Amino acid sequence: MEYINTKNWLVRPAQLDEAIIQQAAAMIKKGGLVAFPTETVYGLGANGLDRKAVAAIYCAKGRPSDNPLILHVADTSMVKDLSRNLPDKASLLMRKFWPGPLTLVVPKAKHIPVEVTGGLDTVAVRMPDHPVALALIRASGLPIAAPSANQSGRPSPTKAEHVQADLQGRIDAILDGGPAGLGLESTVLDLTSKVPVILRPGGVTYEELKEVLGDVIIDPSVLGKKLPKDQVPRSPGMKYRHYAPTSPVILFEGEPHKIKTAITERAQALLAQGKKVGILATEEQAQGYPPQAKILKLGTRENPTTAAASLFSRLREFDQLHVDVILVEGIATTGIGLAIMNRLRRAAVEKFEC
Ligand code: TXA
Ligand code: MG
Repeated sequence: MEYINTKNWLVRPAQLDEAIIQQAAAMIKKGGLVAFPTETVYGLGANGLDRKAVAAIYCAKGRPSDNPLILHVADTSMVKDLSRNLPDKASLLMRKFWPGPLTLVVPKAKHIPVEVTGGLDTVAVRMPDHPVALALIRASGLPIAAPSANQSGRPSPTKAEHVQADLQGRIDAILDGGPAGLGLESTVLDLTSKVPVILRPGGVTYEELKEVLGDVIIDPSVLGKKLPKDQVPRSPGMKYRHYAPTSPVILFEGEPHKIKTAITERAQALLAQGKKVGILATEEQAQGYPPQAKILKLGTRENPTTAAASLFSRLREFDQLHVDVILVEGIATTGIGLAIMNRLRRAAVEKFEC
């Protein structure tokens, strides 16, 4: 790939610099790639109606071409052009959760390039809740196709420096708007079957969706279950190992005190073999692990939104510490915990029930 001189622009979400937004939008309109902050994670944006621009996203990220992208809009009226038949439930959900971390999978309109949808008959759409993202979409006047702005397979970027580490020299510009708030990606909800299906848990929780929809299903692959051999995953993204730092992740789930005992024993055994051990621990249990281990805090069990906000950043920090292995404390799968545990299960090479 040819080296691109990536522009790095600072933008304050509370006081947008209109000239920078205009320059970034001009790049998008010309077919360029611009990374921008959203309320979930940083996205890598391109004109969602321009095949070549969308193809360049896959190239820059090293992403498998059958993994479709989300089209980002700045208001609900933009969605009408993107879907040939918008389900009733879509309007209800857009009113309730947009702008926000909910992506809706709906029947696609004809003119959406196959590069966006990975050959599916559906398209994913979302309206992000971030002033920089919304200003960029408005200024370009286009739906912006944007996956998370990381190298494919790596943890999603929650800060501009993560985007720089993965994509500097491969994209046209990075808009640095400070840390993304939520720290985990949007919930992906498929509205093309009778009962809506959560394909990826995220910022809008199962409990919140159930309250509005009555009936909603969690796709079995979300819970880490294997699909029967003859079944194709409904969201292509679910086939791939994901969210992984360079060092292998070993995940421990179950009762907190049993997790603590199991991780302590495993850490001692690995340290005795001369391995460099990282432990990702909740605040409540971070004290008392072997002192030779590198311990980073995930957030509190009490308030899992703190864990969501720090998860991807911590996984990247372990890479900088050059540990040989990362032992991770699992948390409860209620609320945002379901999304956190989904990412950890998919990052893990080994899982333990304690
Ligand atoms: O929070 C987010 O959603 C971030 C920010 C940048 O908006 N974006 C993001 O995009 O996480 P990405 O590409 O990393 O993940 C999109 C997910 C993938 O798992 C993909 O397979 C799924 O959405 N997806 C996209 N289009 C789909 C479709 N038509 N049917 C089923 N799944 C789809
Ligand atoms: Mg991603």
